[in-house]
Amino acid sequence: MLNGKRIVLIISGGIAAYKSLDLIRRLRERGARVIPVMTKGAQQFITPLAVGALSTEKVFTELFDREAEQDVGHIRLARDNDLILIAPATADLMAKMAHGIADDLATAVLLATDKPVLVAPAMNPKMWDNAATQRNIAQLQADGIHFVGPERGEMAESGEAGLGRMSEPLNIVAAVENFISRETDFSSAEEQKASLTGRRVVITSGPTHEPIDPVRYIANRSSGKQGHAIAAAAARAGATVALISGPVNLPDPEGVQTVHVESASEMLQAVKDALPADVAIMAAAVADWRIASESDQKIKKDATGAPPALSLTENPDILATIGHHDTLRPLLLVGFAAETQNLEANARSKLQRKRADWIVANDVSPETGIMGGDHNMVRIVSKTGIEDWPHMGKSEVAERLVTRIADFLSKPTP
Ligand code: CTP
Repeated sequence: MLNGKRIVLIISGGIAAYKSLDLIRRLRERGARVIPVMTKGAQQFITPLAVGALSTEKVFTELFDREAEQDVGHIRLARDNDLILIAPATADLMAKMAHGIADDLATAVLLATDKPVLVAPAMNPKMWDNAATQRNIAQLQADGIHFVGPERGEMAESGEAGLGRMSEPLNIVAAVENFISRETDFSSAEEQKASLTGRRVVITSGPTHEPIDPVRYIANRSSGKQGHAIAAAAARAGATVALISGPVNLPDPEGVQTVHVESASEMLQAVKDALPADVAIMAAAVADWRIASESDQKIKKDATGAPPALSLTENPDILATIGHHDTLRPLLLVGFAAETQNLEANARSKLQRKRADWIVANDVSPETGIMGGDHNMVRIVSKTGIEDWPHMGKSEVAERLVTRIADFLSKPTP
């Protein structure tokens, strides 16, 4: 998949640098050539010797390296590659990039490059949330820099939890592969770019987790693959995309602003915060119920052996809330209907009840393998009719849906 690709890997200084060693191995396994550049900070965490051994390449560390300047030079390093990957990217390195500072080899390469740049940030959650970091990220996104992660988790150093953990090497590899395959298909990406340019699209994806107590929750089998594929396709088509994602094992799609939530209530709030938009697509498998009174302590078995009675209460319906909202309802509101029987009738009823414009209906009976799988077979139900789409990959469904949305927006007929 990455055969013959040259990737310049910039490693900056953070504890996550130890994962870069595995990342190098994973990229090389897939046929990529990995040319490492290490900042001074990175060398405090891992050695150029280890990086050199794993990459089997010269490791570049100095801006004014007589040997390297004669041989490669930072300009060639910046240009002679298919992608520059920064993993881990510290807050400091991103701040320098956002301001065009080039005071070491890594930042000079980044300033001199005309190649795509993919950033895998890693930092303390407070540093990630800091207004300055968020400003720099917005600037970098506006400059066309791509991101993978960070993910939510516990920090190795401080034990603090929150957004800031570097994506796992395999997730970074998936983002690189995605990116490179998209670049290879440049002509079709360009063709689509025009179609949703200037549009804002909000998408929900994945399951929700409804807490029972601090250690248990109610969940469902949604993988988020379809919603995430739609977000990626909408971004490729030039839209500004906000993806509100429940807990999934997928990397954040590139070029998409991803908000991570757990429960239906959090998802509703995040959707409201992300609106208004031209289009909203509710692909999440939102839990219909939550525990009426979540316990703030772990529920223990009692002496009688009687199981606890969990009483449920209904969750807000995000699609219906937005569908009936006077000011937040987008121009085009698309819902999903996951059914195991009476597909068409149920989809029609959801269309009406939730005031959606289209319902993407699919049969999620276990024998279809759709829930959690890579394929889907959908019917698009609107007020005016039904379209049956053939069995295809979830990314093809996403591309086709995005094209249909773009058509609708250019000539609004449902
Ligand atoms: N949905 C939502 N909020 C909920 C439940 C569902 O936004 N609390 C959205 C889903 O994202 C999807 C659509 O409503 O776009 C239909 O979801 P589905 O689970 O099929 O329908 P339900 O309304 O939950 O109906 P039922 O489970 O009874 O089939």
